[in-house]
Formats: sequence, C-alpha cells, structure tokens
Amino acid sequence: MNNPSNKRPPKLRAPAYPVVEAGGMVWTYLGPKEKQPPFVRYKYMDLPDNHCVVFRVDTHANWVQTVEGGLDSSHVSILHTNGARPEWTGKSEEKVGSFADTEPVLEIEDTEFGYHYAAFRRNHAGQMDNVRIVPFIMPSGRIIPGGALQGRNNATLALEIPIDDEHTATYTVRYGSEPITRESRLVEMGFDDPEIYCERTQQFLFTRNDFHRQRRDLMDHNWSGFRGIATEDLVISTSMGPIQDRTKEHLIGSDLAVARFRKRLLDSVERMERGEDPIGVHADVGLVSAIDAPLPQSGHWRTLIPTHRVAAAA
Ligand SMILES: [Fe+2]
Repeated sequence: MNNPSNKRPPKLRAPAYPVVEAGGMVWTYLGPKEKQPPFVRYKYMDLPDNHCVVFRVDTHANWVQTVEGGLDSSHVSILHTNGARPEWTGKSEEKVGSFADTEPVLEIEDTEFGYHYAAFRRNHAGQMDNVRIVPFIMPSGRIIPGGALQGRNNATLALEIPIDDEHTATYTVRYGSEPITRESRLVEMGFDDPEIYCERTQQFLFTRNDFHRQRRDLMDHNWSGFRGIATEDLVISTSMGPIQDRTKEHLIGSDLAVARFRKRLLDSVERMERGEDPIGVHADVGLVSAIDAPLPQSGHWRTLIPTHRVAAAA
C-alpha cells in the first residue's frame, strides 16, 4: 500500500454488472437493478457450436450510421451489386434471386420487439414474386435473411453496440442449418485481407483518409471497388464521417425503415422520460426471425413469420 496512514475509504467499490455467457458472447445488463429483465436467448443459441460464427468489428462511426445502412433493404441490390447483380457487366447471365430489381416496394409494421418490414421485388419477367422480411430489434439489432445472396438456410444477427459517440462495435452471428467455417465467413466479409481487418484488435482498418483504398482501376468489373459484403457496408458507414450532419440529408421513399427506426428510438426515449420501460425490453427475441421467400399467393406477408407479435396501437 502506498498510503502511509493505512486508512482505506470504508465503502470503496468498483461498479459491477451482471453477465451471462451465451452464444459465443458475454452479455451484460447496464440498467437499474430493480428493472433487470430475465435473460432471453436468441434462437441461434440452441444450434451446435459449429453452426455459428461470431465476429466483432470496430468502426470509426456513430452506431446510428451502422444501423441505418443495414436497415435500407434496397441497398443490397446496389451497394452489393457484384454479388447480387453479377449480370451488370454484361459478361454474365447469372441471376441471383430477385435482386436485379433495385426498386423494392416496402411495407412496415410495429412489433413488440421494435418493427419488421417487408421488401417486395419483381422477378425478371416483371412480376412481384419475392419478399424479404427483416426484423429490427430495439434498440440496435436486426436479423438479415440469407436468401439467394448469402445462402437460403442461414441468417445473420447483427448488433450495433456504441463504444462512444464516434465508434461502434458491430457483432455479427452467422448461423444456419449447416456447419459454417470461420474462414468462409472471413472471405465473404472481405476480412481475410489483413489490410482491411485486424483479427487481433477486431478493427476495420480502412479510413476516409486513404479513401478506403477503393480500387477505381477495377471498377469496370468490380462495381464498388471493394471486395466483401461487410467491407462494402462499413465503407458506407465510415465514409460519411464519424457523425453525419443530419441537417443536410434528404430522406426518400426507400428510407422507410430508416425513418421508422428514428421514430421508434424517439418514442422509446419519451417512454423512458415518463418513467416507462423502453420499447422491446420485455420482448422474447427467441421468437424473432427473418425470411427471404417467394411471395405468398394470398394473405398478409406477416403470416410468413407468425411468431412476431404486432405492437398494440399507442
Ligand atoms: Fe449491406
């Protein structure tokens, strides 16, 4: 001890929070003790270990930017053109599901856990035949259906966790009915390149300062100038700067899910200011899923995900 008086403050304690280890991660609760909800398991946690791959990637961007980029369903057909629309160069006849339709029609609905939305796409004959349903789990999670681009029998849970105002830790869990290797996931994300992703520090290494090292010389056959789906996503999140100036943006129809995210977030803040619980805190995330499927012949799209509970009207 370096204190000659040898007197310790009698009630000196470090803050501590409860944790649960599950699904390849350590989960904690930071709220008031008396309001701690029971730990709820995501569906993937019941799969064999070799059916799930967990990654963390830290980026220099506010968490809202990383959430909003992923929530825009139409971005898949545009940002990920090389994977989703390989026919764009004119050198391939390959069609990947309905992703050739870059103008999906969106519908949205509030649920107990946040909201879910459907993106309807037309097939190559111009008929609406595919629906892609993505749930947004308040305040920062979503499940991405595999579909034609990333494998029909799997899905990806993405959680955007703020580190501070300008940095985000994105946790992704790829899971499915078949074993998945860490190596294949690294390649898909574009993180097998040590100049893009550092596995030791879990950091995304490209920055605005080096123009994210975009390969403009390859863009006659590489639409974005990058390799890897996650790399393309993270370039978008970070290229607008750590905190985007929202006074200069122009939301359009395809930003429906982005606008709803902001509304649900502000509604949640208002609830907390009234002393109520935030949206989704008691929802059973084990019942939440995503799907990319043929459009049902009849009935509402939500019948494809019958475990989602629609929110009661305010
Ligand atoms: Fe994306």
